[in-house]
Parts: sequence; structure tokens; C-alpha cells
Amino acid sequence: MHNYILETDRLILRPLIVEDAEAVFAWVGDEDVARYMVYNTYESVEQVKGWLEYLKQEDEEYHFGFVRKEDNMLIGAGSIGPTMNIETNEKRDGFWGFGYNLRKDCWGKGYATEAAKAMIKFAHEKFGINNFTCSHAVENKSSGRVIEKCGLHFVKYGEYTKLDGTCKRRSMEYEGEYLDSVIEGKIKKIGEKEIPECVSVIRKSFKTVADQFGFTQENAPRFTAFATTEGRLLWQLNEEHRPMHAFFYDGKIVGYYSLFLQENNECELNNVCVLPENRHQGIGEKLVAHAIESARNLGCKKINIGIVEENTVLRKWYEELGFIHIGEKKFDFFPFTCGYMEQKI
Ligand SMILES: CC(C)(COP(=O)(O)OP(=O)(O)OC[C@H]1O[C@@H](n2cnc3c(N)ncnc32)[C@H](O)[C@@H]1OP(=O)(O)O)[C@@H](O)C(=O)NCCC(=O)NCCS
Repeated sequence: MHNYILETDRLILRPLIVEDAEAVFAWVGDEDVARYMVYNTYESVEQVKGWLEYLKQEDEEYHFGFVRKEDNMLIGAGSIGPTMNIETNEKRDGFWGFGYNLRKDCWGKGYATEAAKAMIKFAHEKFGINNFTCSHAVENKSSGRVIEKCGLHFVKYGEYTKLDGTCKRRSMEYEGEYLDSVIEGKIKKIGEKEIPECVSVIRKSFKTVADQFGFTQENAPRFTAFATTEGRLLWQLNEEHRPMHAFFYDGKIVGYYSLFLQENNECELNNVCVLPENRHQGIGEKLVAHAIESARNLGCKKINIGIVEENTVLRKWYEELGFIHIGEKKFDFFPFTCGYMEQKI
């Protein structure tokens, strides 16, 4: 048994303990859940306790219970560990496999993908594993979607037998290399092609600030949430030659920033933003760190930012990231005060 605890947006993944037996029975005792798993439907909480006791001495496979943060409920479990070659019963060098199952009332909400990605990231970071395998019963199409969302692709059909040998099922087998753009996202330079998506991300992201402080198209038409257009970004890209970067997650852009190169080896960090649904996972911090690194590589000695001064949470956030507040200014066309911050790099 291990002591690792993993955290995702909505879940805590932690070792399973015998006291979980009743909660676990909610899914392993459910025929609809057990149907496509290798285990047979459990018949009692006592039987589940037996399995959880057995896990105490398991040291090859990392089992995790998935606890939903919102209500502290154990909603499922899964595991990750060395892939076994069924024919030779030997470990497949460099490959780890994973599996998962959830209470039926928690299906269809993306929890399995979230948990599987966390286990993959764990295996990659902790044990340097780069290749993953997974399989599902042919009929269990939704599990295939989870596996694909984790960056694996179908390789062949296979077969598996239930643990008690009662029935054979056809399976679909998947493999894939670890892809950080899928599992944890990646910052990449963007070009003209990505500009429409960036405009949408910027407008949606700054809309929460507009709503929070009461800015509208009428009282603040020049605020980022309303003034950002494709034409403007194209001009910044092609005429101002701004380096522009976006945070890609699952093939979609979820965050953005650009650097406006000024004179005297200074630059301005502009339009740092993260879509509301992707916030509080450190993406904003990664974007700012990336911007500082890019600015440094471009020979800049100082990085400047302008903020909505009234946004004290944002100011504090930038301060924690090393920026110093240097002043403020009021403009007639903005219903807020502009705050200025800088960082020597
Ligand atoms: C500022 C922003 C980029 C942070 O993105 P993020 O991916 O959530 O950032 P991180 O996960 O690295 O850090 C989260 C922290 O941001 C801080 N933060 C900054 N602005 C915030 C805001 N308006 N509301 C809530 N938290 C904010 C909080 O301290 C938060 O801490 P928490 O997760 O413990 O609550 C994002 O909130 C955003 O896009 N805001 C709207 C656009 C904006 O104001 N951009 C700055 C322009 S100068």
C-alpha cells in the first residue's frame, strides 16, 4: 500500500482503506458498473472488505479512491501500474496501464477522465513512465472516449476473461505516449490562425472582471472585454511584432498573453487571462512565468503591467509573482483607475 495523494480540480485521489468498504460497495455491487470490469459483481460489504484488506499488501499497482471535493463523497476508484503481457505474464518494459470505475450516478460528468489524467501524470512525474496502455470491453464505448481524452489511441482488438473465468469479452486495446499538452496543458506561440480563438478567450476571460466591477459596453467600451477584436490582435501581431502565447489544454486555447516590446529594454505584459472554467489551477502563474522568461530571452530588463487598480485580489496576486506597484492614473474614458506595476528581470 502507498501513501500518495493526488489532487485535481474536483477530486482528491487517495489510498483506499478498509473503512471505505460500504462506499465502494455502491459501485462494485452494482451490476451495471461491474459488467465490463474484470471483477464479478460483489455480493456484500464483507466481500469488499476482503478486497480492501488484500490491497494493503499490494505494492506493484497504485490504487486510488476518488473523493469528490464538493461533498467529500468517495465516488469511484482506479489504479495504475506496470502493464502485464498476458501471453508471457511478464511486465511490458516502460508501459503502465490504468483503469477506473465510478458509481453510476457519477457517470457522464468527466470525473473518470479527470482521475485517469491525474494517475497518468503521477506515473510520469514520479516514475518517469512515458507509455501508457488501457482497454475496455467493446460494448463500453464511453470508456473509449475517456481513454482517447487521455491521449491514447486504439491499436487492436483483444480479449479478456472475468476473474472467476465465467465469461470472455472482446476488448479494445489502446496505447499512447505521455503528452503534456493533453495531460496538463502546454504554452505555445500562436500565429494568425489562432487569433479568432484567442479573441474569444480574452473577451470571455475579461468579462468576469467587467461583471465584477460593473463595466459595460456603454460605460467602458475601451475595456479589454469589449475592445478586443481580431483586427486589433492581427495588428499587434503583424505590425507591432508582439510575441503572443497561448495555453493549450486538450487541443483548446484556455489562456493567453502577449508582450509589447518597448524602448529601453522594457516590455509590457498584456492581456494575461485564463478562461473562468480553467482558473485556480496555476495556469495564470505559468503564463506569467513564461512571459518573464520570454521577455528575459528577448533582452528585456524590466516588465510592466497595467491593472484595474480596484482589483485588489489581482494586485496581490501579481505582488506574489514578484511585481511591485509603482503608481496609478485615472482616465476619462475608463470608469476605473489604472494601476501600474513592474518587475525587474
Ligand atoms: C488573473 C488570472 C489570469 C489568474 O488565472 P488563474 O489560472 O486562475 O491563476 P492561478 O491559478 O495561477 O492563480 C489563482 C489565483 O489568482 C488570483 N486572482 C487574480 N485575480 C483574480 C480574480 N479576479 N478573482 C479570483 N482570483 C484572482 C487569486 O489569488 C487566485 O488564487 P486561488 O486560486 O487560491 O483563489 C485569471 O483570474 C483571469 O483571467 N482574470 C481575468 C483577466 C485579468 O484580470 N487578467 C489580468 C490582466 S492585468
